[in-house]
Amino acid sequence: MTSPTLPPEEGFNEKDHHEEIDLAEVHASILREQADPKEGGEPIPLWLLTIFFAIVFWAGLYLANNSGGFRADVFDPSQAVQVAGGDTGPVDPKVLGKRVFTQSCVVCHQPTGLGLPGVFPPLAGSEWVLGTDPHGDNHLVKLVLKGMQGPVKVKDVDYNNAMPAWTQLSDEQIAGVLTYIRSEWGNAAPPISTEYVKSIREKTADRTDPWTAKELLDIPAEKVPAAESAPSAPPAAPPAPPAT
Ligand code: HEC
Repeated sequence: MTSPTLPPEEGFNEKDHHEEIDLAEVHASILREQADPKEGGEPIPLWLLTIFFAIVFWAGLYLANNSGGFRADVFDPSQAVQVAGGDTGPVDPKVLGKRVFTQSCVVCHQPTGLGLPGVFPPLAGSEWVLGTDPHGDNHLVKLVLKGMQGPVKVKDVDYNNAMPAWTQLSDEQIAGVLTYIRSEWGNAAPPISTEYVKSIREKTADRTDPWTAKELLDIPAEKVPAAESAPSAPPAAPPAPPAT
């Protein structure tokens, strides 16, 4: 590269002389700005290594605490009940119920439980949901198991539509979702047990059609078997007064 000296000219010019000096200065300062190139890699700075190993350590702790023991079934909802049967303790039926509700019921009955006016009846405050005698309870289990169609009155409002059957859900899932809808949105009815769902499923095993509200209301109320409400053994006799 040729140096940018000015072509020799006749007669010395004060201005040109200054320009030559300026250029050299500019070049020198540009050279100063750049680090000297080195052969080979730079050593990794200590602070970067420290941060790196701190993050790796934290990630290990995080995985150990949150990996669920690396079990494949931990987050599988269909296995939830099975896992509960193991050593992890029972799954809260309301937690299971909420999951079932979100998967199967929410599209029609809505997250608010209020349904859609004129189309899908509400579950919040519904007399069908809140029945606490065995009659009301078994209506509820029956209509969810086999579905429901035709005219029905819910909270004094008429509906006439159809709900599919939910027989594909397990007894635990039905008990869970019913327990959930009976305790949500201000509803406060007792839970429905898995055994109860199982017994109703067995009693209605032959039925394939969805229920109508009229059919359900026409079923005579079942009497609670005396053995279930009365204590099985007579109360123990009071202790004899101490002899004086
Ligand atoms: C495809 C929409 C749809 C889905 C999904 C649905 N339902 Fe329904 N449900 C209805 C309709 C429609 C009726 C009223 C049927 C009639 O008109 O006879 C009803 C009625 C009911 C009733 C009785 C009436 C009342 O409002 O209290 C209950 C209880 C109920 N459904 C619970 C459930 C549960 C629990 C699920 C989820 C497992 C569910 N439904 C999923 C549409 C649906």
